[in-house]
Amino acid sequence: MIVAPSVIAADFSDFQRAIKEVEKAGADLLHLDIMDGVFVPNITFGPMIVQAIDAISDLELDAHLMIIKPEKYLKAFIDAGADWISFHAEATDNPEKCITVIKNHKKKVGLAISPPTPFQNVTRYVEHLNFLLIMSVHPGFYGQKFMPENVKKIEEAKNWIVKKNLSCLIQVDGGINGENACVLKRAGADIIVAGAAVFRSDNYKKAIEDLRCSKV
Ligand code: DX5
Ligand code: ZN
Repeated sequence: MIVAPSVIAADFSDFQRAIKEVEKAGADLLHLDIMDGVFVPNITFGPMIVQAIDAISDLELDAHLMIIKPEKYLKAFIDAGADWISFHAEATDNPEKCITVIKNHKKKVGLAISPPTPFQNVTRYVEHLNFLLIMSVHPGFYGQKFMPENVKKIEEAKNWIVKKNLSCLIQVDGGINGENACVLKRAGADIIVAGAAVFRSDNYKKAIEDLRCSKV
């Protein structure tokens, strides 16, 4: 399982140290939550901070865009150094265009769906994706409680991907910790995002190992 710690839960007053520590602790990917205060009721940061993170981190950057009309900002995040980019199906009228732009820049493209959005709404895009991001909390804040009803959606998506023989990975994000990660792995998750479980723990390495769920 790929583990992507989400820096939104890091100590921003000592950001560089937190990023370096999580790299050393074995993180595979760095998840960056981009929130615009419109699509979600919270604001985080934009391309300038992504660029600063890119300058200090050796890890690939996974930008999760929780912004309306993502098509307007894709290029800015690509130029800032994002290697993986996901946008929300609920935030754009033109997912095809977003997929094309991200792919044309040779970046990994992901489509995100919030808890109320059924998998059926996005099946037609899956063959074009590198990953599908299934949210297991309502997007907006770290440290929320995992919504177990989303496990069924992971199973449904995995079965569909396997049946169609596609290479799309499943990323799951929100409320994940060492306790529920194995259930998600069994259901078909390939990439686990975790904010609080890593950055609010006192042992990043152990937190990441637990999330990897190696025994399953
Ligand atoms: C929620 C974000 C998540 C979240 C992860 O809107 O997309 O990435 O911050 O944090 P935890 O793991 O604490 O839920
Ligand atoms: Zn996220």
